[in-house]
Amino acid sequence: MPKWHIASMDEYKSLHKRSIDDPEGFWSEIAKELHWFTPWTKVLDWNPPDAKWFVGGTTNACYNCVDRQVEADHGDETAILWEGEPIDADSGPEIRCLSYADLQHETSKFANALKVLGVKKGDIVTIYMGMVPELAIAMLACARIGAAHSIIFGGFSSQAIIDRVQDAKSKTIITCDGSWRRGSIVPLKANVDAACDQLEGTPEAVEHVVVVKRCENDITMYPRDEWYHDLVAEAPTDCPCEPMDAEDMLFLLYTSGSTGKPKGILHTTGGYMVYTYFTAKNVFNLIPDADPDQKQVYWCTADIGWVTGHSYIIYGLLPNRVPTLMYEGAPNHPGPDRFWDIVERHKVTQFYTAPTAIRAFMKWGDQHPKAHDLSSLKVLGTVGEPINPEAWMWYHRVIGGERCPIVDTWWQTETGGQMISPLPGCTPTKPGSCTLPLFGVDAAILDENGNEQPANTGGLLAIRKPWPGMLRGIYGDRQRFIDTYWSAFKVDDQQLQEGELSSPQRNCPSPYYLAGDSSRRDEDGYFWIMGRIDDVINVSGHRLGTMEVESALVAHESVVEAAVVGMPHEIKGTGIAAFVTLAPTHTPADKAATDALKQTLRAHVGNEIGAIAKPDMIRFTDALPKTRSGKIMRRLLRAVAAGETDTNQDTTTLEDFSVLAKLTESEGG
Ligand code: PRX
Repeated sequence: MPKWHIASMDEYKSLHKRSIDDPEGFWSEIAKELHWFTPWTKVLDWNPPDAKWFVGGTTNACYNCVDRQVEADHGDETAILWEGEPIDADSGPEIRCLSYADLQHETSKFANALKVLGVKKGDIVTIYMGMVPELAIAMLACARIGAAHSIIFGGFSSQAIIDRVQDAKSKTIITCDGSWRRGSIVPLKANVDAACDQLEGTPEAVEHVVVVKRCENDITMYPRDEWYHDLVAEAPTDCPCEPMDAEDMLFLLYTSGSTGKPKGILHTTGGYMVYTYFTAKNVFNLIPDADPDQKQVYWCTADIGWVTGHSYIIYGLLPNRVPTLMYEGAPNHPGPDRFWDIVERHKVTQFYTAPTAIRAFMKWGDQHPKAHDLSSLKVLGTVGEPINPEAWMWYHRVIGGERCPIVDTWWQTETGGQMISPLPGCTPTKPGSCTLPLFGVDAAILDENGNEQPANTGGLLAIRKPWPGMLRGIYGDRQRFIDTYWSAFKVDDQQLQEGELSSPQRNCPSPYYLAGDSSRRDEDGYFWIMGRIDDVINVSGHRLGTMEVESALVAHESVVEAAVVGMPHEIKGTGIAAFVTLAPTHTPADKAATDALKQTLRAHVGNEIGAIAKPDMIRFTDALPKTRSGKIMRRLLRAVAAGETDTNQDTTTLEDFSVLAKLTESEGG
């Protein structure tokens, strides 16, 4: 049994070269490690920006996660290890362990229950749940019968549910009565009720809501509601997995972009499954039978409501047959050592979290991890935002005991899986760099004309070849898909004549995928991500559109105009700064009224979007700095928010210089 899947840089380089030179040969070999009902006839059909992978093949993601393991005689092994948040003084936390056979049983029953409710292949089911095993069962049950899921993070508000249900035209919602978060109950069902009430009587009215009983909080059951436990009690246990075309939709996941409304990122079945399976295997070095004395237990701390949870708690993990741990609650409940308590209790071997969490742990103090035995850990991972070298070093030293490789994984909701990352046991790391592209990833730093930048020169991060996990579209918005990801570089005729690009690309503005990040490569070819180039900010590793927050603010009666920018934040990486112009009728009379209005606006944004979108700083201002053509000068606002009052910014197009002076004087908070 190898210790590391990819054990040397020579091996990485030759495999990477092969994956770029012969992607079809490379990916067909990997795909054969999984189960297909019918084989594909063509590995890749690339007509930019449309890729079809494993054309003509049929498969099922639930089958590969669950049934395939049972068929191979691993039915008794642990698939999902779950720990609840509350800790009982006598018995400790609630722990549930689901084997592959259990998962097969549970997903089959719930899939049959969904069928009884009228859910069919091709439908989109909305899921708004806490981190309970039924969430994994619900998504796999959808995949089993060929329904796509659209999971909404449980921290989002009822307005966010309305927007997504309307966009996806989803008729069924699966939720919980509540979910535990830092000792309190998040009223999930009440949020769903509020959304359904708003949609009642419209063409997007919700027909069925399935409710998992978790917190036993008081809820009202309406005629459209069904208890999960009642449905599954009556459901038959036999439900074969539906053969799905490789390009059938597996899920939609809404993520923020430059406009006020999140977009539904569309992922399909075959390529996504192969890509997440293979990246998870190599990046986390998943080996089910590695060491009989210490079986691997993998833990990703993300919520399944984000892409990290989709790809690296469920779809990429289960086919690798290493137990995946799901934890329900907060990292600091009941104390700041909860995560280390979990690592020790379950002997976690691979641990995957976000830089924002690492910065919080650093702040809470070394004594918490030091109070626990973390010697089981073998590989540490990070995702979601750039990690500052100081946090990297702390993670390496205090959590990894200086023996665990750190994989800093760069990817996006759109990429489906990890794209640029070290391979543990193989790639020499540099704190703060996500290092080198993974297999099949042709990443490059380009200027605005699509030419590669020299070493150590910043530019646009682009991917020049299709990869199996890539998004297939923005649900219902073809033009936005092209404009957002495929429009930066013009294909020049010379390249076409030189045979570098095939003719179908002539009709497409760009054959390269543009990630929306800026980055540089150093002299060793290592990638250093510098940040977003659009109006998207990354708050605690979660993506938010500044326009979304602005739309929420101006929806309040007191606000005339708002501009939102990111600002440096010790824990969150990027915090939210809002500059707000108030209606004259709402001008606060004194400091107390000013503070109260700021609190009201923060709560209002929380209601419109969710708690993660609440501004960290609000400044009231008579006017916003604008160019002569009326565009808000965000660059200036970013400098003001960052406390760079002595702005060296170019202000030659600023309409009114007194605005800037007033802004830098005005009080923060
Ligand atoms: O800016 C990059 C940042 O997160 C963005 C993608 O956000 P989202 O779609 O929500 O997915 C997050 C989890 C995959 C990217 O455009 N980002 C993600 N990972 C890293 C990162 N920035 C720097 N280093 C990373 N490892």
